[in-house]
This record gives sequence, structure tokens and C-alpha cells, in this order.
Amino acid sequence: MTEQREQFGSRLGFILAAAGSAVGIGNMVGFPVAATKNGGGAFLLTYAIFVFFVCLPVMMAEMSAGRRAGKDPLGTYNTISEGETHWRLAGALAVITPFMIGVFYTVITVWLFGYLVHVLSGDLASLAEPGAFGAFINSNEIFYYMIAVAAIVFLILQGGVKNGIERASKILMPGLFFMLVGLMVFVLTLDNAMAGVEYYLVPDFSKLNASVVSGALSQAFFSLSLGMGILLTYGSYLSKRNSVPGSAKLVALADTCVAFVAGLMLLPAVFSFNPDVNVSELSDSSVGMIFTFLPKIFVALQSSIGYTGASAVAAVFFLLVLFAAITSLVSIIEVPTAALMDERNMSRRKALLTLGVLIGILAILSATSFGMLPWFTEFTEYAGVSKSFFDVIVDVFYETILPLNGLLICLLVTYRWKKRNFNQELHEGDPGYKGTWLERYVDFSLGTFIPVILAAVFINTVAIKYF
Ligand code: PHE
Repeated sequence: MTEQREQFGSRLGFILAAAGSAVGIGNMVGFPVAATKNGGGAFLLTYAIFVFFVCLPVMMAEMSAGRRAGKDPLGTYNTISEGETHWRLAGALAVITPFMIGVFYTVITVWLFGYLVHVLSGDLASLAEPGAFGAFINSNEIFYYMIAVAAIVFLILQGGVKNGIERASKILMPGLFFMLVGLMVFVLTLDNAMAGVEYYLVPDFSKLNASVVSGALSQAFFSLSLGMGILLTYGSYLSKRNSVPGSAKLVALADTCVAFVAGLMLLPAVFSFNPDVNVSELSDSSVGMIFTFLPKIFVALQSSIGYTGASAVAAVFFLLVLFAAITSLVSIIEVPTAALMDERNMSRRKALLTLGVLIGILAILSATSFGMLPWFTEFTEYAGVSKSFFDVIVDVFYETILPLNGLLICLLVTYRWKKRNFNQELHEGDPGYKGTWLERYVDFSLGTFIPVILAAVFINTVAIKYF
């Protein structure tokens, strides 16, 4: 098994692929909006502290457990626990979670693709009209875009780890970076841009309260793709010659920098075209921001750079977010793919075709959750709110289970695998890590307060969301 397992061709390839997973819609809009609404610099600081002191150790745990076992998440839990049933259940959860997230992330990626097509065909103005998004997501054209997105993801994953995921990341990530920096520079030259920068950066510590702090942690956790089985799986493709701590630090840094720069692109744009914008009007949901709020901003650009110019800027923005979404989608679908290959001995092709059918059916059902099919639109109700099928998947798998999965991996690594073995794995490819303060910190925190914090976030989310 392990000796034939495919590996990333280089450490850079691994870092770009993991960063490609981490950089997603959460970075482009979720983070900047959360920062602006919740105390600017004060939120940024809280976020950075969580990235470093809570998320980085969990990331190292995921990568090293995956590398040691050389398996998909279920196989990793199974190998490390020597087949204990309760750990196998935790492993199953670490495969089901990404499978379900893959379903709704497919839907969002499909919408992005559709918006890009519309903008490129000169249709920007109509996307900014009231009700445009609702009409778009209920139109049959989305099924064509779904086929296109499925084909792109299939082609990348069919290439395997090195010639598929790694190669795509090496093209998409630098492309993303240039578009992001280019847009940021452009936006910063607009009138009134500095008002946005100020809102984004000037700290207001009075805004920090328990729910903002816990929101910052959830945002960081989600943004780094933790608790999704992804870094366990990517870790299983990492060569023993490469350093886990060093790679994890770079991935966390890259993800945080991209989120930070995305804020310098987004907020100045918003304030430049809407100087009196009330920040509380910014939608909390990334979907609301991307598909209803931002098209209006792009249309407003017309007055300074004309319709073609405005469409070009909108196109670069949607392409940028689409690149970010595709690398994330690829990473999340690789998890159940690896599970079918490792646990069911399927070929990559067969695993991908199986998942294509399963995720395809569920994604179509989610896509009909916005009015096409009443049964899926009014799927259930909790905490007094009616929820669609799509909402339920987002609530349960995206917003609730991730910290639980993170908690389980901390417990597996520190109490079942044992710290000694964990540290040994961290020394592989990085002898210099031994005895550093980071080693002492990770060693202590991963078995003590990090699981307590993750348990608290999980329980709090369950209490607020469902009761
Ligand atoms: N880290 C991604 C983001 O910020 C989250 C994600 C990763 C979602 C992989 C789905 C799949 O958007």
C-alpha cells in the first residue's frame, strides 16, 4: 500500500495544493466582511491569534496522522486506533463531512461559473437588477453549468495527485494571486478607497464579544480547511522527506495573507461606490455578497471606466473566485475519492464516476432547493426557521460538524496515537523542529485547551442553531 501510494512531486506542489484548498470563498468575501463588521483590526488580531495558536497545531495533527497512515481519513483513524470501532465511526464522519460539503460547494461553484459566463457575454447589467440572482438559480441553465464544473473537476482529479491536483494548483494559484493583487491595486486607486481601508483596519475593541470571538475561530478553522479530512488526505500524499511543521506554517500564512489582501480589494471597492454604505447592510453570507451585492458595485464602476471596463473588472473578480472555488472543490472531492480507492479498492476513475453520480444527484436536489421543487425548498424546520435541503447541508456539515471533527483528531493524535509517535512523525523531514518552542507548545496545547475550545464552539453552535 504505502510504497505505491502516489505522492506530490515537490514540497512546493504540496503547499500550493493545500493552500489551494484553504483559499476559497471564505477568504475572498467571508473574512473581509466579518472583519469589517466586527471591529476591523481587532477582529484581524483575534483571527491571527486563533490561526497560529489553535489552528496550526490541528493542521499539523491532520497532516502528520495522514502521512503516517498513508490512507484516506477512514483508513487513518482505523490504522492509528488499530481498528477500534468508535474511532472508525470518527473516521467515517471525516469522510461523510467532505462528501456533503462537496455537494453544496458544487452548487456555489456552478453559480460562480454561470455568473462568469453572463459577465463575459456582456450581461453584467442584468445581474445587478433586483431579483436577478433568484431568477438565475431557478433557471434551467444552471444544469449546463453543472456539467461544465463536473467536467473540470473530473479532469483534474482523474490526473491523480501529481499530474492532476498538483499541476492544476501550480497554474491556478499563481493565476489567482496575480488577479487578486491586480484588482487590489486597481481598487486602491479609486476615489474614497481609503474610507474602506479604514473600516477594515482600524481596530474597535468594543465590538469584540463572546460571539464575535467564537465566530473568528470558526472562520479561521473553516478557512484553513480543517476538520474536513482534506489535510489528512493530502498529508497521506506527502513525502517523508518534507517537513510537516514547515509546510503547515506556510499554508496557514498563505491562506491568512490571501484573506487579508482580499479585504484590501473588497472594502475599498464597496466604499468607493457607496460612500455612505452602512456596514451592517453588508450581507453576512458570502453568497449574498457575491451574487447580489457585488454585481451592483461592478455596475457602478461604469461611470468611471465605462461598461466594458466594468465588465472586465467583474470578469476578473468572478474568475478569481472561481479559481479559488475550483481548487477547494477539488480538494474536498479528493477525500471521498481516496476513501473509495483505499477502502473499496476502486480505481481512481471508477471512484470518480461513482462520486460524480452520487454528488451529482444530491447537488441537483440542492439546486432545486430555491423554489424549483417545493419539497426540497421547505425541507424541514428548526429553531423556528424553515430550512431548505441546501440550508440543512450547510448548517449541519459546514457550520456545525467541523469543530467536532477537529476535536476528534486532537483526541486521536494525543491520546490514542500518543504524543511520542506524533512528535516522531513531525521530526521526519524536519530534524530542526525537535526541542523548539513550537514543539513544546503543540505538544502541550493539542491535548489540553485546544480540544476544550473546540468542544465549546461545537456545543455553542448546536445550542444556538437548533434549539
Ligand atoms: N477553506 C475554504 C474556504 O475558505 C473552505 C473549503 C475548502 C470549502 C474546501 C470547501 C472545500 O472557502
